Amino acid sequence: MSTSSDLNRRQWLKTAAVGVAGLAVASNFATTPLAAQPGPPSGKAELSRIQGNENPYGPSPMAVAAMIKHAPRAFRYATVDDANELIGLIATGNGVAPANVVVGSGSAEILENYAKYLSASGTGEVITAAPGYLKFTDSMKKLGSKIVAVPVDKDMVHDLDAMAAKVGPATKCVYICNPNNPTGTIVDPEKLKAFCIEISKKCPVFVDEAYLECSDKFEANTMAPLVAAGHNIIVARTFSKVYGLAGQRVGYGLMSVEAAKGVMAYNEARLNLLGVMAAIASLKEKSYVAETRAKIKAERDKLCATFDELKLTYAKPQGNFVFFRTGMPIKVFQEKMLEGNVLVGRAFPPAVDWCRISIGTPAEMAPAHIALRKIFKA
Ligand SMILES: Cc1ncc(COP(=O)(O)O)c(C=O)c1O
Repeated sequence: MSTSSDLNRRQWLKTAAVGVAGLAVASNFATTPLAAQPGPPSGKAELSRIQGNENPYGPSPMAVAAMIKHAPRAFRYATVDDANELIGLIATGNGVAPANVVVGSGSAEILENYAKYLSASGTGEVITAAPGYLKFTDSMKKLGSKIVAVPVDKDMVHDLDAMAAKVGPATKCVYICNPNNPTGTIVDPEKLKAFCIEISKKCPVFVDEAYLECSDKFEANTMAPLVAAGHNIIVARTFSKVYGLAGQRVGYGLMSVEAAKGVMAYNEARLNLLGVMAAIASLKEKSYVAETRAKIKAERDKLCATFDELKLTYAKPQGNFVFFRTGMPIKVFQEKMLEGNVLVGRAFPPAVDWCRISIGTPAEMAPAHIALRKIFKA
């Protein structure tokens, strides 16, 4: 006869075994190049791909175990109960009701479908930072709105005063990406809070927190409590970054019940089953995120130390990437880095002689440090 402690032990061993298998799978994923991607120059070691703002540490072992456990169910569509479990966890974690949460295929789907929902009532102007992340603004532009891009300040931080000055009767929305992609900077939380409260009386403020969980002080910087308090604010987050699940396409938005219903009407009817299972497991597992955040920060700090040593200018980073001034066209810099076997980010106009480097593992970052020293010490 099995006692309950036997059962618990057996259950634990089963989970641990799946977790260990999952860990091996995860670490293979992190280092296996995709056939579709360009290979390394012949005779060279594997490329360090530090251009995509992914999290090379991958999903938590519990998230991997959840995906393995539910893989045999993958022939089924995710059920409403599956989605509701995730929505419930997100709602509880953010102090909002489930009706305030929309889950999508990555936060990209939330950005795009919020643009569709907003544009259904007419077009106007969208105020954003330059350089900034383009998914939302590009969607609004395609739907007929005009984009008003306000340059970031001298520290590459959102210039909230200049943005507020642009708000007028034609403004449909203000988009704040915090930390900003590509600059990596974060806005002072008290200033942002005051800005959101004031501006949201005139138009919705969309705060994209895709990278906020990578930052040093998530709780102090998230604008989610303003959604809970009923302000006209939308907060978008993703499982693609600190949770290491970019390929599973799960993101979410927190917003008013009315907006949530409106956005949902444009969403895919069903969610990615394994992505949802991995996201649920990720939210239940607390320590892995903190450990991953610490590893990202350690490599981010090392990269900044190399920039300091080389006297290169960089924006103060809070995401899993650093934006720095190369002083040369991005194409030239990319080629030089490729000679050192490192793939780095694309152009981000108007900062055309700056480059964004994503934070990889220590092994992925080592060739980047060598290449940077070679290029900038010469
Ligand atoms: C600022 C920002 N928001 C949203 C996204 C969309 O991410 P996903 O669709 O993977 O959730 C990205 C992707 O890199 C991003 O950089």
